[in-house]
Amino acid sequence: MELHWQLPAIIVCLQILLADAFLPPEERKCKYARIERLLRIRCYNLDLKEVPQNLKTSVEVLDLSYNRIKKLKSDSFQKYTDIKFLMLYENMILSVEPGTFEPLTSLQEIDLSNNGLTTIPLELFQLPRLRNLYIDSNELKSLDLNALEKPIRAPLEYLNIAKCELKELPDLGIMPKLWQLNASMNPLQDFKIDSLANLCHLRTIDLTKTQLSQCGCQQVTQHLTMLGASPQYVPVCMEPLDIRECPLPYNRTIHSATFASCQTSVELAETRSFWLFAAGCFGGVFVVLLVLLFCVIRCRRKRAQRRLRNAQQRKPFVISPRNAINNRKPEDEPLHCDTAHA
Ligand SMILES: *[C@@H]1O[C@H](CO)[C@@H](O)[C@H](O)[C@H]1NC(C)=O
Ligand SMILES: *[C@@H]1O[C@H](CO)[C@@H](O)[C@H](O)[C@H]1NC(C)=O
Repeated sequence: MELHWQLPAIIVCLQILLADAFLPPEERKCKYARIERLLRIRCYNLDLKEVPQNLKTSVEVLDLSYNRIKKLKSDSFQKYTDIKFLMLYENMILSVEPGTFEPLTSLQEIDLSNNGLTTIPLELFQLPRLRNLYIDSNELKSLDLNALEKPIRAPLEYLNIAKCELKELPDLGIMPKLWQLNASMNPLQDFKIDSLANLCHLRTIDLTKTQLSQCGCQQVTQHLTMLGASPQYVPVCMEPLDIRECPLPYNRTIHSATFASCQTSVELAETRSFWLFAAGCFGGVFVVLLVLLFCVIRCRRKRAQRRLRNAQQRKPFVISPRNAINNRKPEDEPLHCDTAHA
């Protein structure tokens, strides 16, 4: 009964929801909105083959997911330098021209998952604000990182390389801020525990559905426990192993020079930001003092000028006619001094 009542409403809702999907592609348009004060443009599921070039250039969140983009060109994002969040998942991206992402110096998060990339565009790792990188479900089988400049400049905190046919974790150099790494669903046959020495602040690593060896599994679990991180997403290790066959990992992770340099770089960054902060405070106080001093000097000068002006406005003493008359008998009466305003 009740369903009968609601049916028309449900049909209207469905029509509204689906209307867009049935319009011919050229009539579907990107939608503009403000989300938490950011300008968001959604060009989701529009059969786009290229990055549209007629959007408002101040776009901060750009959603280009579920399209048919095959190639990103060096001028694809040249106009859109304010982008902070970029969604490119579920396209057909096979290649990215060098320089494509270079203009995106405000970029904080990019989602390139579910494409056909065979390599990670290395320039992503040099973006000064990039914190979150999703590149899962691509074909990074033969990832070549020889040209990567290390340490990377991007302050990466989250990296998802799940389902990419990787045999080992990529060596991206020290990443002191990375706390979450998702490498699940990769055949990590060549996994080496050493690769975790670069990640001194790792809190979560997803290694589910990888072909991690029993020793690898033991070592990762021990390493995470020592770090105080949770081995929640590490496959359960079945058998305890002989330390002679599978040594404790610490010499190659927490007690290694790489781990130490990762930690020092964090401390350096912290000290640097402390000194920057201190310099900022000092500078601020200095400016305030300077302004105060300026005011005091100005006030004083003004007061002095006012006094001077008052003095000048005062007319000079005049000798009153009475005195002039009295000139005749100066010894009888003293001179009277009159000022003009007195
Ligand atoms: C890791 O990524 C896969 C694929 O994107 C996802 O299904 C899984 O939930 C992620 N794991 C965690 C811990 O977020
Ligand atoms: C770790 O290294 C120290 C010295 O650097 C060595 O004495 C110790 O046996 C090593 N431990 C393992 C488990 O390899």
